[in-house]
Amino acid sequence: MSMAQIYLDYNASTPIAPEVVAVMRDAMDRAFGNPSSPHWAGVPARQIVEKARGQVADLLGCAPEGVVFTSGGSEANNFALKGAFFGSTRARRHIVTTRVEHPSIVTPCQFLERLSAEITWLPVDGTGRIDPDDLRRAIAADTILISVMHANNEVGTIQPIEDCAAIAREHGIPFHTDAAQSVGKIPTRVDVLGVDLLTIAGHKLYAPKGIGALYVRNGITLEPLIHGAGHEGGRRAGTESALLAAALGEACVLASALSDMKRVSALRDRFWAALRDRFGNTVALNGHPKLRLPNTLNVSFIGRIGADVLAELDGVAASTGSACHAGRIELSPVLEAMGVPPEVGMGAVRFSLGRGTTAEEIDSVVAQLSNVLPRTA
Ligand SMILES: Cc1ncc(COP(=O)(O)O)c(C=O)c1O
Repeated sequence: MSMAQIYLDYNASTPIAPEVVAVMRDAMDRAFGNPSSPHWAGVPARQIVEKARGQVADLLGCAPEGVVFTSGGSEANNFALKGAFFGSTRARRHIVTTRVEHPSIVTPCQFLERLSAEITWLPVDGTGRIDPDDLRRAIAADTILISVMHANNEVGTIQPIEDCAAIAREHGIPFHTDAAQSVGKIPTRVDVLGVDLLTIAGHKLYAPKGIGALYVRNGITLEPLIHGAGHEGGRRAGTESALLAAALGEACVLASALSDMKRVSALRDRFWAALRDRFGNTVALNGHPKLRLPNTLNVSFIGRIGADVLAELDGVAASTGSACHAGRIELSPVLEAMGVPPEVGMGAVRFSLGRGTTAEEIDSVVAQLSNVLPRTA
């Protein structure tokens, strides 16, 4: 008999919050018009889009005009990088980023490299953090953008964004952070962080897939990714979706208190303590022990393969830190950049908790792991 389903993959995606579903229903009922139409059908749609923009701006502590709606985190990241590259007229265009970014930063950078951009990939330490002094040393006369993720999706490590953004500001270089994983989990006010560009992904935040945003500080000019009519202040063409904008706006309202995160981090810590208690030194924590997202537990079952461990659990949705390619286990680039040894990294499992996670679920996963793995402590 199958056990209950337990969802511990909130960093991959979140369910849509009931409050978000409610505002989407309302938007569907009363806002079918084109937000750009001045008549009775367009006006409520425009009002919904602009109310949502204000809600996103409130969470980020910025002016509503700084929020550009996108199709998600990947588009926002592509917009920041390619927008800076194509918006610059310099002969040499240099971008600084890190070795632990999400593929939606890594692959656009590789694409821009093929178009003559020079990319510096900053190394990280064993916890996944960059050293701001490395950033300072990497800056060149033609650096057009610095992009450092706020928190890592795999191990949850939080980067020293305030320090890095201050260095960028000293040199007059625009600073972007991919906050897809951090919005709603830790504070992300743009003026506190000191960033010029910031990425949000709705489906990590209890809104649906297909909506995100890029914060663009006043005075920063990016070439649009999508050219067309003058939507989003000429920065992203395409008729706005009142439905999806409303969803992101409401999700940002729900996220603003960060109120559930104390409970979630206590559950996450209880989970880790129980694993240490049962499995001793045969489990290892990946990521920074403290400077880490409150919901993320990336743990290696040393000497095991993460996917095999997960396969032995019944109904538990989580992710692994390695992939099988042509019969070989390959570590994720993030664990590799952190210098995690292969026999440790191949046993990595990412458990990410969220609003729906209960103590009973954590206890059940610990009990299941205790049944399938030898107890060593
Ligand atoms: C750190 C990070 N950035 C960007 C993205 C991409 O966001 P989206 O799925 O909305 O395109 C993700 C999604 O996994 C992510 O974790």
